[in-house]
Amino acid sequence: MKKISKLVTLIGLLFILISGTIDLDDLFNYETQNIPSYITKDNTPETNQINNEITTLGRVLFYDKNLSENNTIACASCHQQAFAFSDPLTSSVGLNGGNTGRHSMRLVNSRFSNEEKFFWDERATSLENQVTQPIQDHIEMGFSGTNGDPDFNELIAKLSAIDYYQTLFDFAYGNSTINEDKIQRALSQFIRSIQSFDSKFDEGFLQSPNLNAPFPNYTPQENLGKQLFLNPPPNGGAGCAGCHAPPEFDIDPNTLNNGVIGVIGSTTEVDLTNTRSPSLRDLVNPDGSLNGPLMHDGSMTSLLQVINHYNSIPNNPANNNLDNRLQGPGNQTQQLNLTINEKSALEAFLKTLSGSDIYTNEKWSDPFDEEGNISIVGGQLSINENSFEKSITVFPNPVETDMSIQLETGNYTTLIYNLQGKILYKKKIFGNESLNLQILTKGIYLLLIKDNESSKVFKKRFIKL
Ligand code: HEC
Ligand code: HEC
Repeated sequence: MKKISKLVTLIGLLFILISGTIDLDDLFNYETQNIPSYITKDNTPETNQINNEITTLGRVLFYDKNLSENNTIACASCHQQAFAFSDPLTSSVGLNGGNTGRHSMRLVNSRFSNEEKFFWDERATSLENQVTQPIQDHIEMGFSGTNGDPDFNELIAKLSAIDYYQTLFDFAYGNSTINEDKIQRALSQFIRSIQSFDSKFDEGFLQSPNLNAPFPNYTPQENLGKQLFLNPPPNGGAGCAGCHAPPEFDIDPNTLNNGVIGVIGSTTEVDLTNTRSPSLRDLVNPDGSLNGPLMHDGSMTSLLQVINHYNSIPNNPANNNLDNRLQGPGNQTQQLNLTINEKSALEAFLKTLSGSDIYTNEKWSDPFDEEGNISIVGGQLSINENSFEKSITVFPNPVETDMSIQLETGNYTTLIYNLQGKILYKKKIFGNESLNLQILTKGIYLLLIKDNESSKVFKKRFIKL
């Protein structure tokens, strides 16, 4: 019996150690990531440069279901890391099973574009402006303030009552007040931090700084595809670079629509307003399959389908917003007359634009554990030691197994840290208590007891034998 209970404690403790944890003393590096020197486009505003503290807060917000009205949807529900932050579904499922009207967009290299407007139809004037719109969307996250939904102030009140946001906002901004501006800055910093530059294309471009020369690491087919992508028609090219310019493969801010004018779930309506595409990097994941259907209406489920579309742009008289570059001579639309080999080459080239790091790198991963919990450790050891107002006795020290705490009745949180600032033990207590510390290895630890009513803190170092 004793063995079993020991095992249970051990498993419990292990769980504390490996479960969703943000260590404020050991942040991921977001602010000085390697950006290849040939990348020159950057839409980061002067006033919202990426910093590790704020981006860490942004990561938590991005994955937090508390940002939706009924605690079921996070940004990451529709922007999944395993799919380059897009959604394999054509139409994403939002609040109460409602579906989005357009396909979710990949969030890769969003920072590296000339275009500063966001969404397929460019209705958001900046990323900062974009990121809180899904929260205020009735279908997506439900804090719209209309249709009987709560409004954004209610979200702020909700987040303000959550312990880890008190810590994280304070850590990121120097005080724990929450407002929309702070949420916007944190979420957009996190999204701008998501970058992918470990593709075969990047390897090749580093080896051969001339974009037009064949890349030494490419197959002849991939090099042919690259030429087709770069060269304009009618000179044997497919003209893709005219709107998706390398090496960022971001969208030309001045393009009109590309002839894809469908509306999800309708066979009769048209939507002429979509003139933005995410970067064409990471269309496919490392195993070569698509990170979700393509285009605003998710109508294309293979790269070949995309290439066939540009090979012969549909001539729809209803489309008075088709870009000039996709018009042919006379009243015709673009007809590239690509051969089967050329189509395959273009497809092979598009596949070289994918990296592998973004799909698994922990810095962009879900910080919550499976139960939706998160613990924030570190960054807390600087709290003033002598502020505790109640009389307290803690003995013995050194301690072998049980540590006794004598303390008047109240509401306290007990934490034990190692000297690296990691929390190893956490328990709520309400007065006198005996802690069984058998589980700790020999060494020096810090005991911290927080009075949850006054937020005053007692600290004591102790030795475990
Ligand atoms: C219910 C699904 C859903 C949720 C939740 C959601 N999104 Fe989106 N997201 C979409 C869809 C769909 C689009 C494209 C919508 C459009 O263009 O009309 C999109 C577009 C975007 C874009 C534009 C990308 C670009 O290149 O223009 C950004 C940025 C973004 N979402 C960030 C977020 C953030 C941040 C959150 C959380 C606060 C979030 N999304 C929550 C589905 C979702
Ligand atoms: C005139 C400008 C223009 C040209 C030229 C062009 N595109 Fe596009 N492309 C767009 C626009 C605009 C979109 C977004 C369309 C939408 O969803 O409504 C887009 C979307 C795409 C998408 C889907 C992206 C996604 O995330 O779903 C792919 C893939 C693509 N283009 C590939 C190509 C290829 C390959 C070529 C060359 C054969 C090409 N494009 C030429 C403007 C252009």
